[in-house]
Amino acid sequence: MNDIIPDLKPDAGGELRPIKGVANILLVASGKGGVGKSTVAVNIACAMAETGKRIGLLDADLYGPSIQRMMGTKGELQQDEAGNALPEQTHGVWSLSMGNLTPPESPVTWKGALVAQALLQLFHEVKWPDLDLLVVDLPPGTGDIQLTILEQIPISGAIVVTTPQELAVADAERAIVMFHDLGLPVFGLVENMDGYICPCCGENQALYPSGTASRLARKRHIAMLAGIPLDPKAQECADNGTPLVLSAPDSEAAKSLLRLSEDVSIALEREDTAQVLRQQDIGNPEATEFWDNLLGGDGPS
Ligand SMILES: Nc1ncnc2c1ncn2[C@@H]1O[C@H](COP(=O)(O)OP(=O)(O)O)[C@@H](O)[C@H]1O
Ligand SMILES: [Mg+2]
Repeated sequence: MNDIIPDLKPDAGGELRPIKGVANILLVASGKGGVGKSTVAVNIACAMAETGKRIGLLDADLYGPSIQRMMGTKGELQQDEAGNALPEQTHGVWSLSMGNLTPPESPVTWKGALVAQALLQLFHEVKWPDLDLLVVDLPPGTGDIQLTILEQIPISGAIVVTTPQELAVADAERAIVMFHDLGLPVFGLVENMDGYICPCCGENQALYPSGTASRLARKRHIAMLAGIPLDPKAQECADNGTPLVLSAPDSEAAKSLLRLSEDVSIALEREDTAQVLRQQDIGNPEATEFWDNLLGGDGPS
């Protein structure tokens, strides 16, 4: 079997082309579909925008776009006088999705090269406003779209979403390994639908065996960022274009998503600092203090 698997490594050393005016880019990824990537992407984008940051949200799931519906944008392409595509601002976030470019019932039926080209156009040929962060909602898996982005766009880091189910966690591991192989920081793992809040007693009841996601986080040396319970309101909010963190901020799921957005903001700031300090001489006191704080005193000396 092995000899039919091509030994091709993605071109990680290629030229990266920044997006004008965009300070940081975060990927929201998963191995398996339906685990809650878009839900997490929408809600952390809205939560961060609430804190005053300038946030964009790009739907890179070209074959299964959800962001237009979940963000409640108009579902039609907005353009400036010069004909440039414009993201639409709803809930304080500028977003763009294939759902804004194609009628809802029309499937995208493109093959490889066309997909890469369309994807890069969404990054470079859209008039993104100046942004502190562009959140990118990826399709599931480790395919063309992920590799095109990793090879051509400078990314700050990724978070990986899974459910506790072993099948989903196994796929999440593949996504983590891909990012690690290509040198992209993985800020951590998010365990969505990690239980159900009983409407009678308010207790979080397990739906799957527990511990699967945290075992993977330990194995791959990444942070276990958040557990988000299953909440029927999350589905209602997705369908209505009214993100959960804004419409039901006191629900347990929204509270987890709000904490997650804070943790991701901290991880992004740390990565910014780390990138600057990596360029400096080892032994620089500021750098040493940073690594010491991060690693509890075991930083590089
Ligand atoms: N915590 C949750 N509670 C209830 N429903 C959820 C939750 N997270 C996601 N969902 C629902 O599960 C489905 C898949 O979520 P979605 O975010 O679209 O996943 P993905 O982007 O990974 O395919 C959607 O119907 C969504 O509304
Ligand atoms: Mg999705």
